[in-house]
Amino acid sequence: MNITVFNGSPRINGNTDIILQEVLKALDEKIHTVNVFRLNNMNIKPCQDCGGCDDTGQCVIEDDMDIIYKAIREADRVVLASPIFFSALSAQTKIMIDRCQSLWCEKYLLKKQIPPGRFGRKGLILLVGGMKKDTGIKCGEESGRAFFRSIGIPTHETLGFTGVDKKGAILEHPTALRDVYDATRRLINDE
Ligand SMILES: Cc1cc2nc3c(=O)[nH]c(=O)nc-3n(C[C@H](O)[C@H](O)[C@H](O)COP(=O)(O)O)c2cc1C
Repeated sequence: MNITVFNGSPRINGNTDIILQEVLKALDEKIHTVNVFRLNNMNIKPCQDCGGCDDTGQCVIEDDMDIIYKAIREADRVVLASPIFFSALSAQTKIMIDRCQSLWCEKYLLKKQIPPGRFGRKGLILLVGGMKKDTGIKCGEESGRAFFRSIGIPTHETLGFTGVDKKGAILEHPTALRDVYDATRRLINDE
């Protein structure tokens, strides 16, 4: 399978990085092709709402999204991982998602679907927030859901971890690493 992983955290060795290590552990890279995108390091301009994709489903901006569009089209599985910033996905994550408006146009205006391939297409959303309240997790999950549906991913699972703030605090969570590992195994095994 082709597996595309988005890391929306700017913090190196932070909580999102740590749970994504569990994702990679659960994926056998000898069997699967895994592409991890650290969005913070990429050159991605925000959507300009120019309408340039309305009739074509193709974004007119040329930047690192070109590689991401290709990875999204070829993916059998997509993992979207983000910290919660101000009750939402990180800006790094959201900028990438907004640029998928072109794929939204392709699906909903041009009525074209990304072909599901022999494994179908499924997603996993992983969210980490410092606060105990899950408001940000709920908001992030809604954006992630809209993203997945727009890129032709009809089903996904979401894991949200609250009260995880300091760098590395996820290591003290009683179940997080195991939960992420198990969810990743389900992502690739439940076809
Ligand atoms: C700019 C900023 C805004 C944040 N806003 C929230 C928030 O609204 N809700 C929340 O639960 N945590 C919030 N946090 C805390 C982060 O979600 C938390 O530290 C998380 O563990 C960071 O994940 P990372 O280590 O993968 O970057 C915020 C952190 C930053 C830097």
